Amino acid sequence: MMDTKKQIRLDVNHMMADTLGMQYAIAASTVDEYAPFAAAAQRQVQTRRGTGWLGWMELPYNQEEIVAEIERVAARVRSDYEAFVVLGIGGSALGPIAVQQALNHLHYNELPAEKRGGPRLYVEDNIDPERMAALLDVIDVKRTCFCVITKSGATAETMSQYLIVSDLLKREVGEGWQRQIIAVTDHEKGNLIKIAKEEGFDTFFIPDGVGGRFSELCPVGLVPAAVCGIDIRALLAGAADMDARCKTDDVWKNPALLEAVLQYIAMEDLDMNVQVVMPYADSLKFIADWFCQLWAESLGKRVTRKGMAVNFGQTPTKSLGVTDQHSQLQLYTEGPYDKVVTFIKVESFRKETPIPHGCEQFPDVAFLGGKTHNQLIEAERQGTEYALYKAGRMNQTIVLPEVNAYTIGQLLYFFEMCTAYAGELLDIDAFNQPGVETSKIASYAVLGNPAEKYVKAREEMTGRPGAKPEYTL
Ligand code: PA5
Repeated sequence: MMDTKKQIRLDVNHMMADTLGMQYAIAASTVDEYAPFAAAAQRQVQTRRGTGWLGWMELPYNQEEIVAEIERVAARVRSDYEAFVVLGIGGSALGPIAVQQALNHLHYNELPAEKRGGPRLYVEDNIDPERMAALLDVIDVKRTCFCVITKSGATAETMSQYLIVSDLLKREVGEGWQRQIIAVTDHEKGNLIKIAKEEGFDTFFIPDGVGGRFSELCPVGLVPAAVCGIDIRALLAGAADMDARCKTDDVWKNPALLEAVLQYIAMEDLDMNVQVVMPYADSLKFIADWFCQLWAESLGKRVTRKGMAVNFGQTPTKSLGVTDQHSQLQLYTEGPYDKVVTFIKVESFRKETPIPHGCEQFPDVAFLGGKTHNQLIEAERQGTEYALYKAGRMNQTIVLPEVNAYTIGQLLYFFEMCTAYAGELLDIDAFNQPGVETSKIASYAVLGNPAEKYVKAREEMTGRPGAKPEYTL
């Protein structure tokens, strides 16, 4: 039963000058000054919703038939296969990984089949040759369904994986191998759709206006989630809940807008060039990864929409509470004043782990007895929050009453809206990624792609100053 009462909250107390102190913090009056600018950004985004690259805003509402079809195909996959392998990268992989980690058992793949109720999940988002070999060591290709996800239908990493896997299936399964592939791609662009039509794969479309990093709530994320037994309707309902909260242009009432404005001020006025996302829950650690791509690829831009050079961006980085208290926290409390820390706090965990009494002769150990890991992790989160506060470091907390499909849907949509608003405030195109192109072209050039642009790139690359032996030790 979907719990639709539980809403996530954004607590920005420690971003504000009246709670954190004046030096590196934001005065409420500054937010008020920015309010008309924020309202204009909100209205721009609302006006354009569903059009251009804002197609993802409608995903909570326009997928009724698709969801039913996904559930039908997922039921077949759940009963027929013991492994489900996603072939995809970037926006076609980070969402499925994040949602699986958030909403399924932390050792899902190791559970006995009857407890899992569906196939093991592998998301192959790299082309490390050892990784493909390792995957093939642990799956039985005949009992595996492969889901090829690529919006462009052309990504070399994903299509090379497709070539390997389809070749294997043809050899090991033979006739009917096509039943073991699901394609998720654009309805007309790219090669995967052409291949899918030719081979007759089960195919789901990534709608127009839904870019890779904004695609978790379309079949990109919904297919793997449904195959792993996740309530995809609750995910979408959670997103709709957040969307409703983002309908107002009042910066003090719209959580994603407030967050975008605070980050904008933090970046522009206070030089907070880094945002550390620090969930205090293992289940949310890959949500931080997913956010990092969303924020980095959307906002890291050389020019504004009018072409003015700005070299803009705030570097997102992930950290895990409590693990990284013992690794990164020293830097956050005493290093440069260039970071905002975003905690993600879970109020009620799905399990309680009591700590037994013992070691009474050692009071510093014995005091833990009778408490729970739930209390300890929250105490440590509060301790870290306090340490940052005491050091005058800007931090904020996103609170999840509990981790479920409904709150995760809200969280994903919150971050997406915040990114769209931030793009608007900064007047940059948050939906393209021109900076990734040079590397793509250069790597194809290295591989000897005969197309003209790659030949030219190869010439350019060989024209670089040669490597000096004295610089290689
Ligand atoms: O956000 C993006 O657009 C990118 O990260 C893409 O998701 C990534 O490059 C993979 O692209 P595709 O889905 O076309 O294979």
